[in-house]
Amino acid sequence: MKATVFLGGGRITGALCAGLRLAGDQCEIVVYDRNPEKLKALRRESRVEIARDLKSAVAKAGLLIIAVRPGSVKEMLCEVEACGAAPPALCVSLAAGIPLRNLRKWLGPPVRWVRAMPSPVCRIGRGLTPVSFDRGVAKSDRPRIRKLFALVGPVIDLPESQMDAITATHSPTHGYHALANLAEAAHRAGLNRKAALIAAAHALSDGIAYWRESGLELDELLHEAATPGGIAAATMAAMDKAGYARVVRKGVSAGIAQARRNAK
Ligand SMILES: NC(=O)c1ccc[n+]([C@@H]2O[C@H](COP(=O)([O-])OP(=O)(O)OC[C@H]3O[C@@H](n4cnc5c(N)ncnc54)[C@H](OP(=O)(O)O)[C@@H]3O)[C@@H](O)[C@H]2O)c1
Repeated sequence: MKATVFLGGGRITGALCAGLRLAGDQCEIVVYDRNPEKLKALRRESRVEIARDLKSAVAKAGLLIIAVRPGSVKEMLCEVEACGAAPPALCVSLAAGIPLRNLRKWLGPPVRWVRAMPSPVCRIGRGLTPVSFDRGVAKSDRPRIRKLFALVGPVIDLPESQMDAITATHSPTHGYHALANLAEAAHRAGLNRKAALIAAAHALSDGIAYWRESGLELDELLHEAATPGGIAAATMAAMDKAGYARVVRKGVSAGIAQARRNAK
């Protein structure tokens, strides 16, 4: 069986390879990158094979996964075109914001394209991956891609028009950012740092786990957790008045705008 080949051995490749190994996946993984030290670290951590050059990497690929930064995708695909080995019929781009039409232009038929946006939480097997298939990807080829990402967390099919919005929304950075800010506010209010982090993590993570596991509506949970006239109600009202919803919308819009800049 041919290998799963990653072009680019940085952050997301590291998280995906670790998640695949954690899931017990024994498939051959080959990684090509221009930084030998990153490749050696990946080999140590996830038993990947280091590609000696781009041609040999492409030649081994049953599935080619493009995992370089958006600004490097065009250059990488030109190198693939010129390397002298035929790419596999199915390629996956992880590059945020790069549309299928550009991918098709830079490396066209017989190659068919899929966009996927895995979360680095895939390292622990809980990364959500939205996927978007180009029209030309046969229905029979699609389960293979879903199955690969399903090894490292839930997979959701989306039309390409929604990929930028989900990219700006599902990043775990929202959780880390909220955790850091809530813990800092608690510390400034007098709570010691350790207790502040424990409290903030409970508020965010366990609260959301409760929503997921209970199947209750958010309104019902808010009703249960916020006594009218109480502390939680006062806290939320003050945050809303200060523009909490507007700030979150601004953040998501800025993420989408960056994805659209990547597309140019
Ligand atoms: N990080 C995430 O959580 C995440 C999640 C989903 C999708 N993505 C997408 O995945 C892609 C990679 O993101 P990342 O955070 O993993 O980036 P990264 O850590 O910078 O990894 C990219 C790697 O590719 C190498 N590279 C770039 N051009 C190359 C070339 N022509 N030949 C050989 N190696 C080359 C880079 O080397 P240098 O360092 O020398 O440039 C780097 O080691 C991006 O398009 C991003 O939008 C990222």
